[in-house]
Amino acid sequence: MAGRFITFEGGEGAGKSTQVRLLADRLRVLGFDVTTTREPGGSPTAEAIRGLLLSGRARPLGVLGEAYLFAAARIDHIAETIRPALDRGAFVLCDRFTDSTRVYQGGAGGLDPATVGDLERAAIGALMPTMTIILDLPVHVGLARAKARAGTEPADRFEADAIAVHEARRQGFLAIARAEPERCVVVDGTADAQTVGQAIWAAVADRFGLEKRTR
Ligand SMILES: Nc1ncnc2c1ncn2[C@@H]1O[C@H](COP(=O)(O)OP(=O)(O)O)[C@@H](O)[C@H]1O
Ligand SMILES: [Mg+2]
Repeated sequence: MAGRFITFEGGEGAGKSTQVRLLADRLRVLGFDVTTTREPGGSPTAEAIRGLLLSGRARPLGVLGEAYLFAAARIDHIAETIRPALDRGAFVLCDRFTDSTRVYQGGAGGLDPATVGDLERAAIGALMPTMTIILDLPVHVGLARAKARAGTEPADRFEADAIAVHEARRQGFLAIARAEPERCVVVDGTADAQTVGQAIWAAVADRFGLEKRTR
């Protein structure tokens, strides 16, 4: 049952993790079973792979090798976390998913589209998200937020990429939204978190027919 699978996508500092929390809170208040999770990671084995990817230890493998690791992590994450939650009827809110692979390893990363597509099909099968929220904002705004959040922590392997790469990723997410308008909703991430949360709630309530429950 893949009917309540919502993914959050966008660049560094776009507000994905913040908005996953806000939406989970709203849904739980209404009495829904909600699982929040993230990629890379979301299960013990996938979190171990996350460490390899974000630390840069896997970087010598090249973009293809990294893409295989993302796919391997995703296979475990789906089996251990996403599938069981969907099967019991929960909303699953996931911070990044397959669109991030399309954008970071494909598109802006240079991995050819055929390989990206093959890996996606192998990893997720028919489990495309029901709804994908793409948080859009200027690259410099997101990076400044990410930097403020990190304090003295150094940027991770992907945050540390050049501004032009971040810009290409932003355009990549917007292109996915244009190509799959039934699945994707682009939300302006520049306003304060509560305002962004309202816009997301309006879209989710509409998509899942929840308005009546909030009145
Ligand atoms: N709408 C917003 N306006 C200003 N700051 C925000 C907003 N949303 C999130 N933040 C802050 O910006 C930083 C990055 O947000 P986060 O949700 O972690 O982004 P992401 O998960 O997309 O990288 C955090 O410190 C968060 O508190
Ligand atoms: Mg985050």
